[in-house]
Amino acid sequence: GLPDRVRIHEVGPRDGLQNEKTVVPVEVKAEFIRRLAAAGLGTVEATSFVHPKWVPQLADAEQLFPMLDGVGARLPVLVPNERGLDRALALGAREVAVFGSATESFAKANLNRTVDESLEMFAPVVARAREAGAGVRGYLSMCFGDPWEGAVPVERVVRVARRLLDLGCDELSLGDTIGVATPGHVGALLTALDAAGVPAGRLAVHFHDTYGQALANTLAALRHGVTTVDASAGGLGGCPYAKSATGNLATEDLVWMLDGLGIDTGVDLRLLTATSVWMADRLGRPSPSRTVRALAPQ
Ligand code: HMG
Ligand code: MG
Repeated sequence: GLPDRVRIHEVGPRDGLQNEKTVVPVEVKAEFIRRLAAAGLGTVEATSFVHPKWVPQLADAEQLFPMLDGVGARLPVLVPNERGLDRALALGAREVAVFGSATESFAKANLNRTVDESLEMFAPVVARAREAGAGVRGYLSMCFGDPWEGAVPVERVVRVARRLLDLGCDELSLGDTIGVATPGHVGALLTALDAAGVPAGRLAVHFHDTYGQALANTLAALRHGVTTVDASAGGLGGCPYAKSATGNLATEDLVWMLDGLGIDTGVDLRLLTATSVWMADRLGRPSPSRTVRALAPQ
């Protein structure tokens, strides 16, 4: 069966903008986030407290976060290490996310660490965030394929997933960082996770749309009991440390499908589309989302 309601975890301001060539002015970012929340998105991943040299597009996190005071949405932020956590907590962040990898190649490229070393780096971050009363999400990247290593074995993903949850993450988001997953693979991974004691209720799915499979993969995940789906307004996104990554599943495409299925998201598709058209104007290129293009020819 399918759920009655899906929670959308909007990642456009973080996953989307981290990959744009243009550095977007901080006022535009704040307006983007305000408009996404006003369109009914209850969770909007706002930025990352990473090393500014690694992701220059998000180097303005200290300026941006205080500008979001009063935004009526949960505003999680990425923190790779204790330095990032300190920066986020100092500004009053209530939700953080650590981000691990199922593969050694991406752990090295994205975090300058082995998989084991990155989990060691996350342990005090998760513990201290929980002590501070903050919610903690864990991301797991390269759950299906890796640009350097090829197909990623399900058993390896299950092993790292378990370790991230054992650190104390409330929720785990399964990342198809380069968008190579297909629905059968998604089903096989969710079945293996369930057998290893990781229920779908603690999972989110995070699909990039490189091969146009993101919606089909999402539907497969919903049929396996997942009810939290990551998406990016207008289909912005990618990952600067994974060459073949394109944008995330577009939030508009997701909402169009869920509306049609009678699944509640709380999102107003008209307001959301208007926001993505506005953002596309700021970025100087049209949105890649099919739904945005159909509803608002640019
Ligand atoms: P490193 O070079 O190993 O850093 O990078 P280090 O720990 O050796 O520290 C070196 C210097 O950086 C020190 O300064 C630190 O204080 C400073 P120094 O003492 O030399 O003056 N530093 C920091 N400064 C500010 N904020 C910080 C911070 N940490 C250290 N947080 C590090 C290690 C983790 C920092 C680096 O690799 C990094 O920032 N990586 C982030 C990469 C990233 O953001 N990638 C994109 C997000 S992941 C993604 O997109 C995938 C996802 O969407 C899911 C999917 O699609 O699969 C989530
Ligand atoms: Mg991503």
